[in-house]
Amino acid sequence: MKKKDKVLIFDTTLRDGEQAPGASMNENEKLEVALALEKLGVDIIEAGFPVSSEGDFNSVKNVARHVKKSMICGLARSIKKDIDAAYNAVKIAKSGRIHVFLATSKIHLEHKLRKNQDEILQMAVDAVKYARKKIDDIEFSPEDASRSEKEFLYRIIEAVIKAGATTVNIPDTVGYSTPAEYGQLIADIKNNVPNINKAIISVHCHDDLGLAVANSLSAVYSGARQVECTINGIGERAGNASMEEIVMAIKTRNDFFGCSTNIKTQEICKASRLVSKLTGFVVPPNKAIVGANAFRHESGIHQDGVLKERTTYEIMQPEDVGFVGTGLVLGKHSGRHAFQSRLKSLSIEIKDKDLDKAFDRFKSVADKKKQVYDEDLIAIVEDELKMVKRTWDLADLETTSGTDVTPNVKVVLKSKNKKYEAVSSGDGPVDACYKAIDKVTKMKGELLDYAIHSVTRGKDALGEVTIKLKMKDKKVIAHGTSTDIIVASAKAYINAVNKILA
Ligand code: KIV
Ligand code: ZN
Repeated sequence: MKKKDKVLIFDTTLRDGEQAPGASMNENEKLEVALALEKLGVDIIEAGFPVSSEGDFNSVKNVARHVKKSMICGLARSIKKDIDAAYNAVKIAKSGRIHVFLATSKIHLEHKLRKNQDEILQMAVDAVKYARKKIDDIEFSPEDASRSEKEFLYRIIEAVIKAGATTVNIPDTVGYSTPAEYGQLIADIKNNVPNINKAIISVHCHDDLGLAVANSLSAVYSGARQVECTINGIGERAGNASMEEIVMAIKTRNDFFGCSTNIKTQEICKASRLVSKLTGFVVPPNKAIVGANAFRHESGIHQDGVLKERTTYEIMQPEDVGFVGTGLVLGKHSGRHAFQSRLKSLSIEIKDKDLDKAFDRFKSVADKKKQVYDEDLIAIVEDELKMVKRTWDLADLETTSGTDVTPNVKVVLKSKNKKYEAVSSGDGPVDACYKAIDKVTKMKGELLDYAIHSVTRGKDALGEVTIKLKMKDKKVIAHGTSTDIIVASAKAYINAVNKILA
């Protein structure tokens, strides 16, 4: 395949994705996502907006320091202090990019920027020239491009390329465009900007009308060679174009698009799970590519067809995206070796010292639950091992609740081999449990969000509780799993407290 047939994947999960209300991640979590994106084969990682806060600056720098294979990009408005901050954050990277943006639509010019087109064009050119003196790889975005006057768009794109922009990105900032219209816009830019061959055309679509992926793909068909997207499609308002959908559409319909990406698609589900865990945004079961039902055939006719010939109803293979099925894998009689080799086949890396802990937990789950599925194993390992330093551990929990009794919970927590207990009543067993934990830890948390879902099917399924907790002005997301939902709730809360203390 020729170079011009490669579509670069620019992931903005850590910048536009993180702008989704409630999706914020801390520095370590952002690095974890960045390393997963690198493993996925993402070409460019937009790691943040460095001028926006000290925290953002530090996390872009942290990502730039650790990620070696992907290019690291920092966002900047078209002003010097933003460009300086972006440069200072990415300069340590093996390869770095500054992404400069400035709005070009009439609405933004009149009401937000209060400048005319000539002033905007000059600002954009000055910004790109200034950034280009610092670094060779510059992306320019005319914000709200899809609602901008085309003639002005052509003019500004030509000018910024002349000033040194190496990628020009065409954002559908408010998710207003439609596939035919947006594809035409890219074709028009190709035909009307004289120096367009000196830059890569990128696209950046929002999902306000549910068209972000369709618009991006239409642009690829018209010749765009970079797509900006996020894992699970998270982002401002309704979100951004979802990376997994873009990548798999290009791969599956190579006959139509005639191009490819550098993404190692087998890593997709893993990255999706990670982003969902860290942001607390649960992936809906019917979500294309990564939803729990994406490869499940329920209808008898479909099942029969797939058994006879997979391609009757399957256009992709679950293994292609690293999809973990619900095949029965282990039970309470399974030994350590079977456990270890199943983890290996799920590409779950586990250190020898952690194996005992994970195996003990597996055994206690298998005792309660006859069948342990792949998803259960993933939840167990993530629950047990991906943990910050533990100040508190759950040692015991007893609950009383019912239709006509006040819920009452006794919790016993362990810290440095000493046990502490407290009892509390509450509006429900979860409330009582959280109040009892607060009494032991002498910290009071504000529960911002609480969600529970079953990891697999069946009455004996593991329940996974995800909470968002505010304590001491810090907000954290944490998880806990157990076949008992009050125990899972307690674990999630204790994990949140440990995160805050760490
Ligand atoms: O949606 C948008 O216009 C953006 C720009 C900063 C590229 O996110
Ligand atoms: Zn955006």
